[in-house]
Amino acid sequence: MRLRVTTDQPWDVVADVLVIPIVGEPAFDGPLGEIDRRASGELRALVAFGELRSKRFTSSIAASGGVRAARLLTVSAGPADGIDRELVARLGSAAMHRLAGRHVKSVAVWLEPLAASLEGGAEVVAGLVARGVVEGMFDPKSLYAEDVPTAPPAIDELVLVGPADADAAALTTSAERGVIMGEGANLARSLANRSANDVSPEVLAEEAYTLARQHGLWIDVIGPDKATELGMGMFMAVGKGSDNPPRMIVLRSGKKGELDAAGRHLALIGKGVCFDSGGISIKPADRMEEMKMDKTGACTVIAAIATVARLAPGTPLLAVAPAVENMPGPHSARPGDIVKALNGKWVDIINTDAEGRLILGDAMTYAERLGATHLVDVATLTGAVSRALGDLVTGAFGTDPAFTGEVLAAGARAGERYWQMPLVDEYLTEMESWYGDIVNSGSGEGGLVKSGLFLREFATVPWVHLDIAGTAYYRKAKPWAARGASGASHATLVELALAGAKPA
Ligand code: BES
Ligand code: MN
Ligand code: ZN
Repeated sequence: MRLRVTTDQPWDVVADVLVIPIVGEPAFDGPLGEIDRRASGELRALVAFGELRSKRFTSSIAASGGVRAARLLTVSAGPADGIDRELVARLGSAAMHRLAGRHVKSVAVWLEPLAASLEGGAEVVAGLVARGVVEGMFDPKSLYAEDVPTAPPAIDELVLVGPADADAAALTTSAERGVIMGEGANLARSLANRSANDVSPEVLAEEAYTLARQHGLWIDVIGPDKATELGMGMFMAVGKGSDNPPRMIVLRSGKKGELDAAGRHLALIGKGVCFDSGGISIKPADRMEEMKMDKTGACTVIAAIATVARLAPGTPLLAVAPAVENMPGPHSARPGDIVKALNGKWVDIINTDAEGRLILGDAMTYAERLGATHLVDVATLTGAVSRALGDLVTGAFGTDPAFTGEVLAAGARAGERYWQMPLVDEYLTEMESWYGDIVNSGSGEGGLVKSGLFLREFATVPWVHLDIAGTAYYRKAKPWAARGASGASHATLVELALAGAKPA
């Protein structure tokens, strides 16, 4: 896709579609009025007809008359004071979704109405809209099926129409970065959406090899023999239960142990359960098919390190993705099995369905052994987080207020929502084991907090845990996204890592 930035008037831009953001009630006293006049009053007529409304994410398509774009697409943003980074990116995606099935090769987006309402103005808006447009072209059905008539158009050209006084070069740089961020999110979504009979731990590792070659990343993939020899007892307890052998995938950019510009050797750790049947503590059949998405954390960190390698090559960064299949069978761990973690703790597996924390714990210890000074893990860890926060807000936990603040600030720059959960020390007593140091699943209430407390046992450096079980995938399509993997937290992780990029 070509990218073009112009500061021409919106009515002078040649494209198949001109996207017009409507902020608040449509007001025809300014440039929108000029567009409407040139379009022979079409927009006012749609308002009168009740087709063009101010409600967020509603949209309308109009003939363009004397406006040079072939058609007009209005997308409503809702009230000006509700405009934030998340919304701006989603409006870009929503425009592409509205055009699903249409014959469109070039799309122009008029930035001014959004730029006037967002801190950072047109430059920030250009990056977010570009990212949103790219993410809006993602279509899960096209992963397997050919010629999907309901897919958003794959456009050849995106034109960003900046305000007359905008710095076109700055807008271009921001938009190019946005495109790469969007492509990274789509890579994570493609991997996450693929089915468990397609993407086994070995296949995920193959995908990581391909990306490592493409982007010049160092890679090491640890199989069952080496993992056992190293003492990854928690990782192997889950991994040995399937005929598809486990893989601990390790990617690195920069040099071993090298500190980034923020003084960190940051490690991103992603839960890679290619299918979570629950194991011997088997899950009910209802919606079990969604558990192919339980590898989303791994897909996200693999995509994020590739994105960072594209945007700021050589930035010190580690990605560790423990990949397993959680299956019942003759080799599975049993409830009551006691295993030794890589950090030496004895863990009492009372529920084989609390498998994510087992593989993540060993991956966290391993990341520290590789020199990580700061850890962020991303995982579809608990049903409880989606009951608490739904599919629009990711749950966050952290041990170090300064580092947690950095992660949440990266989330704000990325336009992604987080809510911090407490690590309540007292609840640890409810996780004591008769035989080992800790059980892997807290009994009674507070399961979400206990999942965080368990993981904390495996961190000795500042650590943040992001539970994306609610946000990783949409059960139903949204105005800005198809159902399935959402790409949640990819942009946050990239922003966090880029805070340590060497100044250009
Ligand atoms: N992968 C699941 C969590 C999950 C549930 C993700 C629903 C997405 C949607 C995780 O491995 C799991 O099974 N968690 C259990 C933990 C419990 C056994 C302590 C849960 O949340 O019920
Ligand atoms: Mn589980
Ligand atoms: Zn799981």
